[in-house]
Order: sequence, then structure tokens, then C-alpha cells
Amino acid sequence: MNDNQKITVAGDLIRIHLVITRAIEVSLEQTCLFTKKGEIVENLAEGFINYLRSLLSLFHSHHLVEDEQIFPYFQEHKLEAPYQMMNDQHQDLLPLLDNLENSINDWAKDVNNHQLISNLQKSLQQVQTLWIPHFQLEEEYLNEENIGSLISDEEQVKLAHQFGEYAAKHIKQDYLVIPFILFNLPAEERALMAEVFPAVVIEELVPHRWKDKWQSMSPFLLL
Ligand SMILES: [Fe+2]
Ligand SMILES: [Fe+2]
Repeated sequence: MNDNQKITVAGDLIRIHLVITRAIEVSLEQTCLFTKKGEIVENLAEGFINYLRSLLSLFHSHHLVEDEQIFPYFQEHKLEAPYQMMNDQHQDLLPLLDNLENSINDWAKDVNNHQLISNLQKSLQQVQTLWIPHFQLEEEYLNEENIGSLISDEEQVKLAHQFGEYAAKHIKQDYLVIPFILFNLPAEERALMAEVFPAVVIEELVPHRWKDKWQSMSPFLLL
């Protein structure tokens, strides 16, 4: 990591957006591969189910921290942005995420059923269709320049930690989702993202104690 690079609120937002965007793309590619293949190997299916559930968990915790912390903070500090529209987009995504959750659960019970793979693929496509304009709108307003002109670098580091901790507290299955976040990012971004988490998580839990739990996701991660 470059020593001059500091974590910023916009940087963390973009990194989480990158994780979600990549994970949707990887998942869509995987559903295509499953459609072309014959029998699906059981441990690949298990890893993919963990990957998809991590995506869902991250989606919900990311929206929560935006709705309850990030948007109110910047609204209060008079950073101009279409908060109502961004909030409405979260609401519009909710039924699609519920739909995706149902598709994952149905497919998990019968992984060689092509109809269920196709349903899963459709659910992912629907989420992607709303997700892309949504994160683009957020990044148009909550960007480095706008946030940087409002608060100091020191305050940004403090806030990024505060927002990160809030989101982390609401992550279900952290032993899957934290590795999912880190390893859907290229190395340099991963090093910056890692600063948000306590040292014990990065140095001990992810590489050692949690490894058995998350390593089934390896085929889909940037390892
Ligand atoms: Fe959002
Ligand atoms: Fe976002």
C-alpha cells in the first residue's frame, strides 16, 4: 500500500460498491457455467451458496449503514445529494433481494435443477439492473471531492471507522462476509479496506481461525 493513501469515506463506499458489483458479475458468470455443465460438484455448490449469502448479507448491512448513518450525516452537514431518491432505490431493491434470497434457498435444495439455476440467474439480473444506476448515483454525489471539501482528512479517517464498525456490527456471518469483502477486492484496495477492521480480524481470524469456514468460496475470490 502507498503510505500517502489514507482511508476516506468515499473510498470505502467505492470499495464496497466494487465488491458488490464484482460479486454480482461473478455470480452471473457462475450460473452460466452451471447451465452449460452436467453434474455440479457438491463442494463448488456449497462455496457458491456461501458466496451468494455473503453478497446478500453485505447488501443489507451496506444499505443499513447508508440509511442510518451515512446519508443522515451528510444531509445534516449540507452535502447536496438526492437523498430521497437514493433511499427510494434501497426500498426498490428490497423485494428483489428477498427474491434473490428465495432463489438461493430453492436452488440450494436441488443444485442440479436447471429451472432453479435459471431462476437464480434471473434474480441476479434483476438486482444488477437496479444496482448499477444506484451505486453510480451515490458516487456522483458522495465522492472524494465533495466529501473532501466538507470535512478534514482526520475527520474522514474517524468517520470511515465509525461507519465501518456500524456496518460490521450488522453483518450476519462475519466469518464469511469479511473474507468475502476483502477477497473480492484487488490487493491494493484490499489493504485499504482492511484498515477498517480490528487487527485481530485481519491477522488472526480471517487467515487462521475462520479459514475453514470461508475457504469453500475460494474459486470465486481474488486469492
Ligand atoms: Fe445505497
Ligand atoms: Fe452504496
